[in-house]
Amino acid sequence: MTTHCSKPPEWIPALIAAPPVGAVAVSMPDSPAPLPTITIAATDPLLAAELQLPLLTDPAAPGFTHLLISTDDRLELRELASDAPGPVYVDFLGGTAAHRRRFGGGRNQPLARAVGLKSNATPSVIDATAGLGGDAFVLACLGCTVRLVERSPIIAVLLRDGLRRAMQDPVIGPLVKERLSLHLADGRDFLSRLDETQRPDVVYLDPMYPHRRKTALVGKEMRLLRQIAGADLDAPALLEAALTCARRRVVVKRPRLAPILIGPPPTLNIIAPNTRFDVYLRHHD
Ligand SMILES: C[S@@+](CC[C@H](N)C(=O)[O-])C[C@H]1O[C@@H](n2cnc3c(N)ncnc32)[C@H](O)[C@@H]1O
Repeated sequence: MTTHCSKPPEWIPALIAAPPVGAVAVSMPDSPAPLPTITIAATDPLLAAELQLPLLTDPAAPGFTHLLISTDDRLELRELASDAPGPVYVDFLGGTAAHRRRFGGGRNQPLARAVGLKSNATPSVIDATAGLGGDAFVLACLGCTVRLVERSPIIAVLLRDGLRRAMQDPVIGPLVKERLSLHLADGRDFLSRLDETQRPDVVYLDPMYPHRRKTALVGKEMRLLRQIAGADLDAPALLEAALTCARRRVVVKRPRLAPILIGPPPTLNIIAPNTRFDVYLRHHD
């Protein structure tokens, strides 16, 4: 099931009707080291019902590792440990997103070159691993229409909240409404159901990379995404679906020194200081 993010939120419950209720087991069968199970509650009754999470009004109540909090301004996910980093939320108006929009390098930045943005070409994109929407927002600011696909309901509601707030903004609101739509789905299913007229020029993938070193410096957003979503060990299957679906190219974002995803070799890559974009050209490019 898919929906545009500006529609009412009835799209979430149907997709998460199955357990878990309040507990998200993130360890995967063949992951190198099982991750701890995390337990999430929500402070807002509507959201708790929508996500089938326990409703918790006292943040100090024991038994949960994370809390989805609806403040007056936004939806936040907070880790409850005493040494936890600050809350995670989606903010397209300030912080990193605003900085990337103003100073990211426009169509010359590696992400833009990887998707094939040229002065006379603005491809349509499906971001099949949307996460907190940072990369998709950059592409939308550069003119692309981007369908964001995210399979984690918790991450999807954070993203939906950020998109809704961005839509109210007089400067970026129009472009967010016009160019970004959110779909709660597994990317593989989503891509395989598209008919000929719905296929995008580009499928963009940024699967979670399994960090094994405890000392690895990871931003709090990425750390949290990994806690919620786990390592995306099925990324090769997503790549296969993307290669079948994209009209022009598939782009896979990887840490700069990471191996390529299992599958056919990329046609070319674009290197940024910490990141590598593997580009798989299809037709007409
Ligand atoms: C590294 S994050 C993406 C970060 C994103 N590029 C950004 O700028 O915020 C990976 C995200 O992809 C999602 N994901 C991974 N595999 C997916 C799939 N097959 N379908 C949908 N979402 C997927 C994960 O749940 C996670 O939220």
